[in-house]
Amino acid sequence: MKIVHISDLHFPTKIPFSSLRGKSVIGYLNYAVRRQKKYPPVLIETLIQTIEKLEYDALIISGDLTNVSHPSEFPRAKEWLKPILDDRTFIIPGNHDRYKKESVQPVLLFEKEFAPFLGEEVSKTNYLRKKEIGGFTLIGWDSNRPLPIAKANGSVRPEIISETNSFVNKPYVLVCHHPLWNPKFQEESNGHKMVNRKEVASLLKEKPPVLYLHGHTHTNWIKRPGEKAPFYVVNSASSTRLSDSKHISGFHIIDLNGNGKAAFRRFSYHTETNQFLESPLLIYDEEDGVI
Ligand SMILES: [Fe+2]
Ligand SMILES: [Fe+2]
Repeated sequence: MKIVHISDLHFPTKIPFSSLRGKSVIGYLNYAVRRQKKYPPVLIETLIQTIEKLEYDALIISGDLTNVSHPSEFPRAKEWLKPILDDRTFIIPGNHDRYKKESVQPVLLFEKEFAPFLGEEVSKTNYLRKKEIGGFTLIGWDSNRPLPIAKANGSVRPEIISETNSFVNKPYVLVCHHPLWNPKFQEESNGHKMVNRKEVASLLKEKPPVLYLHGHTHTNWIKRPGEKAPFYVVNSASSTRLSDSKHISGFHIIDLNGNGKAAFRRFSYHTETNQFLESPLLIYDEEDGVI
């Protein structure tokens, strides 16, 4: 099975200042002043056109399609994605898609917009979704919930892992927004990381996925299977962002065979030619980083 993995698209947005409240005021100012210029529309158009030309079985998007979860951002993100939304697409939410309480009540804005691409609901009580493609099961988790300003943490309840373990019966790919592992030189702050990732990694050892695909930290890496997490951990964020010294952007194409062997290729954006070109992999052993 061939997977294209993109993440943290943070599509450009223009929101009337008068329609912002509370946390969104600071979040939007931060976006408009600092982040917006890192996401040029020409790069995003090129990414979409590049993916349209690829042959693949599954397109996985691991969250953060919006910036401050404003109701106008969800349809706008879908409009951007329209050329590559089809029955091969599998999407999960990121913390920016659950930015404020108003994004989850009275209506789940993310689910409302992207329902056909989120997979089938497995659990009655938790966000746990699945989609069967190419002999593999894709599993989607939601590690996010609205938090106070300056917090971007995630967590996954142990019961979600037991529910996952109880129904998977073939090799599976797990998609969740927050990293389970970071290289030592890119450790996440206490306000940004998944708070119980040691516990999650440990519980996943019972029935490990082949791949754990995520975003959230805006740079690329691949962790090889190790003792604490016996599966690949792949970060493809942020696929729509310009690279700089701290953020190596791009996306991965992953070939999985029936034995769970994976082959990776990484693509990154080149401003001079307006192209995504194959680039060296940033691949590490588990000991090069921390869970
Ligand atoms: Fe993000
Ligand atoms: Fe995020």
